[in-house]
Amino acid sequence: EPKGPLSGKNILVTAGPTREVIDPVRYFTNHSSGKMGYAIAKVLRDRGANVTLISGPTQLTPPDGINVVHIESTLEMYEEVMKRYSDVDAVVKSAAVADYRPKYTSQHKVKKKDGPMTIEMVRNPDILKELGEKKERQILIGFAAETKDVAEYAKKKLTSKNLDLIVANNVLEAGSGFQSDTNRVTFFYRNGKVESFDLLSKNIVAGHLADALISMLEVNSK
Ligand code: PMT
Repeated sequence: EPKGPLSGKNILVTAGPTREVIDPVRYFTNHSSGKMGYAIAKVLRDRGANVTLISGPTQLTPPDGINVVHIESTLEMYEEVMKRYSDVDAVVKSAAVADYRPKYTSQHKVKKKDGPMTIEMVRNPDILKELGEKKERQILIGFAAETKDVAEYAKKKLTSKNLDLIVANNVLEAGSGFQSDTNRVTFFYRNGKVESFDLLSKNIVAGHLADALISMLEVNSK
């Protein structure tokens, strides 16, 4: 049995991008490397939690001592998250989820034709929003990847998705957001508290997130 402040806690973490398939050779995705989410999963494991990591396609090695579930599309992530939700104490949604997918997936390579081409996109489910709607005792932590008006958009997501904490990052800032080993984040809490951090390694950011989660779980169990 792992020891630590989170021992006995079941925590779901999502990481990486999703991939929305057009045909056997093409897909839509984003720049997420999975580094932020994997760092979080490892810190939570080290503090004793029973961690399930739902991961989109990444180059990272699946960490020991974590139940890693590999998915590709948003719909697959949705399935894997939803079926575990009632059994978990907290969810950390660091994955970069595609809001849209192609309406049709072709079984064969789409051939080029003269003139422009259009791909019709349909909305994917907003996984985190649905978790917020179904929330019981779970602590919900979301991320906000923004390119401007970071605080404003992050606070809107905190409220509209019914979260306990949102971690905001500006993905245009050097050394921050996608791909890098570092990130500069601000925590916006449900109660209005705001914590701003310097540019730190993603491992240290993950440590701060774990601290925040531990104190929210303690408050929640009283
Ligand atoms: O993976 P790295 O290269 O280390 O990069 C880290 C990161 C930039 C991906 C990470 O720090 C980050 O910001 N993750 C959230 C990316 C994102 O999808 O942000 P968003 O603002 O579009 O979404 C807000 C929240 O809703 C996120 O928690 C997201 O997981 C969730 N969401 C979004 C859309 C959707 N359809 N379903 C969701 O659950």
